[in-house]
Amino acid sequence: MSEAIERVGVVGAGLMGAGIAEVAAKAGSSVIVCEMNAAAAAAGRDRIESSLNRAVDRGKLDPGERDAALARVSFVTDLHDLADRQLVIEAVREIEEEKVEIFSTVSKAFIDDEAIIASNTSSIPIMKLAMATTRPDHVLGLHFFNPVPVMRLVELIPSIVTDVDVVNRAEDYVSGVLGKHVVRSQDRAGFIVNALFVPYVISAIRMLESGFASAEDIDAGMVEGCSHPMGPLALADMIGLDTIKHVADSMYDEFKEPLYSSPPLLSRMVEANLLGRKTGRGFFSYTR
Ligand code: 3HC
Repeated sequence: MSEAIERVGVVGAGLMGAGIAEVAAKAGSSVIVCEMNAAAAAAGRDRIESSLNRAVDRGKLDPGERDAALARVSFVTDLHDLADRQLVIEAVREIEEEKVEIFSTVSKAFIDDEAIIASNTSSIPIMKLAMATTRPDHVLGLHFFNPVPVMRLVELIPSIVTDVDVVNRAEDYVSGVLGKHVVRSQDRAGFIVNALFVPYVISAIRMLESGFASAEDIDAGMVEGCSHPMGPLALADMIGLDTIKHVADSMYDEFKEPLYSSPPLLSRMVEANLLGRKTGRGFFSYTR
């Protein structure tokens, strides 16, 4: 029988990768995070530390637990240093070629034949990543939501060749150890949530683009009228407009449905580096 998962690797320490590393460390796992260089690793560490500090400020964590969680996370800049991990979760940009390269390298580096490699992709079919590895049956999708420490859901996506034991071990870890609510989806671009969410955000952008209503009023409509915690445009700014566009493009690529096609305003904003909170301006402006 395979051992319970205790050693986790995370590739990428951006918004999602840092959040995944944080929840894994808080749950008691040993976590190694791989970033491209020392500066990116330092930024990832700061992200984890400030989120843990926020949790302490809001009374969700005591300072001792924060320090213990931080001590469980280490950083590397070479994917081969993930060789002893039982589960590696890739959370880099939503660019298929980059992910394929990582899947190929990590799967060859693994020491343990039972090791699992998962992607936090929002939309790229898991089969495409699995086929880049030496062990397609040990690959699956684990899609977390932003902000990871707060959002309870994780979508679990087996490909058509994922081993059933791999699926069960991953579910035991995400549900039993991380305490997330797991839903299973077929391996279709966008899975469950983005298949519903992306057309909604795209509709809000088209509404703004056509002059139908202002950004403030579109968001107020959904916050005040439907009790959503954030409006669609503020949420798009939080996720990052480049990510929204990558997700929409891979869904359009899969289904060829107009409801997934990126509106010109979204494309122009991405070209202008108006990516939302991370660049200080998207549909709204932010002081950094
Ligand atoms: N660690 C632990 N808990 C934290 C925390 C942290 N770092 N930061 C905040 N929290 C907790 C707070 O204690 C609070 O808990 P409580 O309700 O039990 O008191 C709760 O989270 C809310 O925190 P705040 O009061 O500080 O903040 P807000 O009330 O302004 O909520 C928000 C912020 C959670 C971001 C909320 O606006 C929200 O839920 N927005 C929608 C997020 C969403 O839809 N995410 C999904 C995006 S789609 C996606 O990710 C998929 C991708 O593929 C595109």
